[in-house]
Amino acid sequence: MSIHNEVKRVTSHTLQSMKAKGEKISMLTAYDFSMAQVLDDAGIDVLLVGDSASNVMAGHETTLPITLDQMIYHAQSVVRACARCLVLVDLPFGSYQGNSKEALNSAIRIMKESGAHGIKLEGGEEVVDSVKRIISAGVPVMGHLGLTPQSIYQFGTYAVRAKEEEEAEILLHNARLLQDAGCFALVLEKIPAALGKMVAEELKIPVIGIGAGMHVDGQVLVMHDMLGITKNFSPRFLRRYANLYDDIKAATEAYIKDVKSKDFPNEKEQY
Ligand code: KIV
Repeated sequence: MSIHNEVKRVTSHTLQSMKAKGEKISMLTAYDFSMAQVLDDAGIDVLLVGDSASNVMAGHETTLPITLDQMIYHAQSVVRACARCLVLVDLPFGSYQGNSKEALNSAIRIMKESGAHGIKLEGGEEVVDSVKRIISAGVPVMGHLGLTPQSIYQFGTYAVRAKEEEEAEILLHNARLLQDAGCFALVLEKIPAALGKMVAEELKIPVIGIGAGMHVDGQVLVMHDMLGITKNFSPRFLRRYANLYDDIKAATEAYIKDVKSKDFPNEKEQY
């Protein structure tokens, strides 16, 4: 029996019952097989193949350039690694905004070609028809409100969203719409903690925060930020659990030194 048959898979229903029990949900992003395997072995509940791959994997300034084909490639690698966690995939910019049919086709490609367990998309009222259509095809959908990086050129800044009452009201309205449309969970990015609390208390579905405070039902971070691989990104909401940039640099410097000094390989490290 393979490990895949021995481990009980986290599903959207598991997340719902975690919210009911007050058990916090842990979520990280992942983009490749090796890292996803470590995170899954560590017991992460949800891995998101985020379109932040555009930033941390491809080096783009925004999430806009990444394509559906590229997202599917990353998703395939992550799905192959995961025995336990729920794997979700971002619909990338330009793959769903046209109309609900385009959104459904993109979601179906992700599900069919990667084997992921659901998708995430950004936006409120304007994506409700697409959310309903995707869910009607049996695909679980996670919403995403607050700072939505695919709209960065509209916002003009990565500053905290919904600080003013009018925008907070709109966010709450959109959160209700997404829940009513059938989303199984919602991500809230970079909003005041008090608003995160209000949304999490009002909604029945799990609310996962990234910079949305301590009262939401779970937390998500970009893996490269949390592991300290990205160096020049230090928003207040980020807690670094490692300094892999420094560790990897030091290891690489040591390797270079050993090669140059002819210390590596030694007698035992050759055939
Ligand atoms: O793409 C991503 O990494 C995300 C998270 C920030 C939630 O959407």
